[in-house]
Amino acid sequence: MEQKTVRRKRILTGDRPTGRLHLGHYVGTLMNRVKLQKEFETFILIADIQALSTHWEHPEAMPETIRQVTLDYLAVGIDPEICNICVQSRIPQIAELTSIYGLFTRMNKLRHNPTLKTEAKAYGYMKGDDLIAGFDKLTYGFFGYPISQAADITFLRADLVPVGEDQVPHIELCRDIVGRFNQLYGKGKKIIPLPKALVGDIPRLRGLDGQSKMGKSLGNAVFLSDDDKAIEKAVMKAVTDPQKIRRGDPGRPEVCNIFAYHQAFTPKDEVECIARDCRKGTLGCVADKQRLIEVLQNLVAPFNEIRKSWESRPDDVLDILRQGTANASLEGEKTLSLVREAMNINYW
Ligand code: TRP
Repeated sequence: MEQKTVRRKRILTGDRPTGRLHLGHYVGTLMNRVKLQKEFETFILIADIQALSTHWEHPEAMPETIRQVTLDYLAVGIDPEICNICVQSRIPQIAELTSIYGLFTRMNKLRHNPTLKTEAKAYGYMKGDDLIAGFDKLTYGFFGYPISQAADITFLRADLVPVGEDQVPHIELCRDIVGRFNQLYGKGKKIIPLPKALVGDIPRLRGLDGQSKMGKSLGNAVFLSDDDKAIEKAVMKAVTDPQKIRRGDPGRPEVCNIFAYHQAFTPKDEVECIARDCRKGTLGCVADKQRLIEVLQNLVAPFNEIRKSWESRPDDVLDILRQGTANASLEGEKTLSLVREAMNINYW
């Protein structure tokens, strides 16, 4: 009898190693990854080449930032026994697939990508509102990184991509590329499956300043590796309802940034009491912040414990990356064989 092995569905997701991960990453995507790692065959990619598309002047920072992100994964509960954590630059199949996808992806697809535009503005690569018009600063590598990200997602023929909301345009582009690839070369067969994005319950956690999304460089983040003091400092300087000036003033939870954090991290029944007492004016902002500080410190404390135990075993951390990368590359070669065959460029 013919034996048919059913392949477990696959997750591919990742992060740029540009600094430590924060609470926004946690609710946006890390929680989903931890939850799903048993059910899905999971690969987590540390996208160092993508990070270098904005940080090419400082490649020497990569070993340390890669180590930090790996520790963040392990700290929140990614299990290296069942997940593969891999490093992008050491997987040649991603580079090969990137150049293939670049052959038929039109510049216009990239030009209007909102995430690419927001980042290009932030890095000063863009003049006015058009990416290409400002191209004297824009590099080929940065402009094209969404194509490379499509290769990241598909070199393992992943089914599901748990990401923060800002990544959805990139998954859309990836789906577009996969559709075109299959249509051009598949002769009716789906060589590469169409991946789906999965966004966490709190898709966009604002920074503690309430101004913009939580960012590594904006000084408005709580990091997963923060200690009690750092959490206290970050929360204490956060903005609440600007119209609530004195303790007894009634507040508006719906405009309060601290309340948004309670909604994300504090037990539900307690959140209702907080909203009620704030509206009545019986809960002051300082007490409210103190409760949030406690909640966040309790969340992060076990992460720091696990982190410490891995920090004392740097060789084991490197081994996790080495093994995860080798597994990914091996699987990636299977995809690339299919891709070359479909395109008739498997010359020997
Ligand atoms: N662009 C993602 C970020 O900025 C990182 C990333 C690279 C990624 N490759 C990926 C995410 C593939 C999901 C899938 O965080």
